[in-house]
Amino acid sequence: MRFDVLTIFPEIFDVVLGSSIIGRAQQSGLITVNAINIRDFSKDKHKKTDDYPFGGGTGMVMMPQPIFDAYKSITENLDYKPYFIYMSPQGTKLDQKHVERLSKLEHIIILCGHYEGVDERVIENLVDEEISIGDYVLTGGELPAMVLIDAVSRAIPGVLSNEDSYSDETFKDGLLEYPQYTRPADYMGLKVPDVLLSGHHANINRWRRQQSLKRTRQKRPDLFEKLELSEEDMKLLEEE
Ligand SMILES: C[S@@+](CC[C@H](N)C(=O)[O-])C[C@H]1O[C@@H](n2cnc3c(N)ncnc32)[C@H](O)[C@@H]1O
Repeated sequence: MRFDVLTIFPEIFDVVLGSSIIGRAQQSGLITVNAINIRDFSKDKHKKTDDYPFGGGTGMVMMPQPIFDAYKSITENLDYKPYFIYMSPQGTKLDQKHVERLSKLEHIIILCGHYEGVDERVIENLVDEEISIGDYVLTGGELPAMVLIDAVSRAIPGVLSNEDSYSDETFKDGLLEYPQYTRPADYMGLKVPDVLLSGHHANINRWRRQQSLKRTRQKRPDLFEKLELSEEDMKLLEEE
């Protein structure tokens, strides 16, 4: 998967996406992240990338020319159109299903806005989809772009060392993940549930399913309502 990020702060991406699992995925060639400086494409003598909004009002708007030219520099030698995403509080709110759909793509361009956002002609003519990371407004699209890249990358086969950790986790099958414990089994009198120490895999799986169901009902009733429960699930929920 190749990500090309159009930004006026390319340096921000190095530390976060160069570390840990996403850093390793880049080193192993499973993903490539190129942060492209929109400013490099500005034709203004001061390398300006924003200007006043027509019609008045506060704030600045990112100009179309540097963004169109940055886009052209990526696509001019390609025989396909990469999927173009604009990170925006006005977009579709990101969730795990959406992340999984995006993880099947091969090439994504992500545009990070600033100030009052980008000139509407960019959105109308280049953007395939606007994506929001939540109903709040941030100062720029870089953090949202990193959230998107992180979430999409870990859904790509091979990026996580253990595929099982992905298949069990929160939001898979619409459930929250069960509680996790590590050593010691007794920490200052705080004990790990006996079943996890039993070595009985069927009982452990049953307990984990029950915990997932119960905590989804308790913490995320909105997700719980959408579940299609089996008879076994109903039984697990009734047990203490
Ligand atoms: C201050 S915001 C612009 C908000 C815009 N004036 C509006 O009211 O819709 C600047 C940039 O931050 C990014 N951004 C802010 N909040 C975001 C969110 N919740 N999800 C994704 N991107 C966001 C976008 O790229 C946006 O262009």
